[in-house]
Amino acid sequence: MTILTKNERETIALGKKFAKTLKGGEVILLIGGLGEGKTTFVKGVAEGLGIKKNITSPTFVLMRVYLVKKSKKQKNNPSAEFTLSDPAKGGGVEWAQGDKNEEANIKKLVHIDAYRGLNVADLENIGALEYFGRKDTACFVEWGEKLEKLLKKLKLNYYKIEIKHLSKSKRRFIIQNLNY
Ligand SMILES: Nc1ncnc2c1ncn2[C@@H]1O[C@H](COP(=O)(O)OP(=O)(O)O)[C@@H](O)[C@H]1O
Ligand SMILES: [Mg+2]
Repeated sequence: MTILTKNERETIALGKKFAKTLKGGEVILLIGGLGEGKTTFVKGVAEGLGIKKNITSPTFVLMRVYLVKKSKKQKNNPSAEFTLSDPAKGGGVEWAQGDKNEEANIKKLVHIDAYRGLNVADLENIGALEYFGRKDTACFVEWGEKLEKLLKKLKLNYYKIEIKHLSKSKRRFIIQNLNY
C-alpha cells in the first residue's frame, strides 16, 4: 500500500488510522532517513491508541514503553526508559500512562531506535525481545532496516513502512505486511 502525505498533520492522521488496524503482536519497522517522519508517524499511532504522552525519538535511551491505560482520568507519567549501559534499569519499570484504546487489546506501545544497530543480545539487554510478538503489544522500530534480518531469523511477522521525502513537506509511505 502506498500513501502520500502533504504535511505533518496528515502523517499523524495516517499513524492514527494505522493504529486502529493493529491487533497486537505486530512489529513495525520504520525505514527512512533523518527527518523523513518516522517519529511523527509514531506520534499519530500513540494518539490513535489514546496515549496522551508526547512521543519523542528514543535515540539515546533506545527504547520507551508507553502503557495504554484504562481510565481516561489518569495522568501520564514518564515512560520507562532503558539504556544499553544500564541494563539493570529494566527491572524497575515505570510506565507511561495513556487512555485505553477501546477497540483493540493493545496495552503497550514500544518505541525503539535501532540507529546504531541492535543484535539479539542488545535487544535482550534492553528488554525489547520479550515484547516482540506479544499479543498486548505493538513494537515500532525507527531505523528498522537494521533489524529486518534478525526478525526474519526469529520468524516474526512484521510490517515494513518505507518513508521517502518527495519535497519539503511531501512524504511517500509504502506499507507492507511481511509474514514468515
Ligand atoms: N508530510 C510530513 N510528514 C511528516 N513530517 C513532516 C512532513 N512534512 C514535513 N515534516 C517535518 O519533518 C520532520 C519529521 O521529523 P521526524 O518525524 O522526527 O523524523 P524522523 O523520526 O524520521 O527523523 C518534522 O519536523 C516535521 O514537521
Ligand atoms: Mg525519529
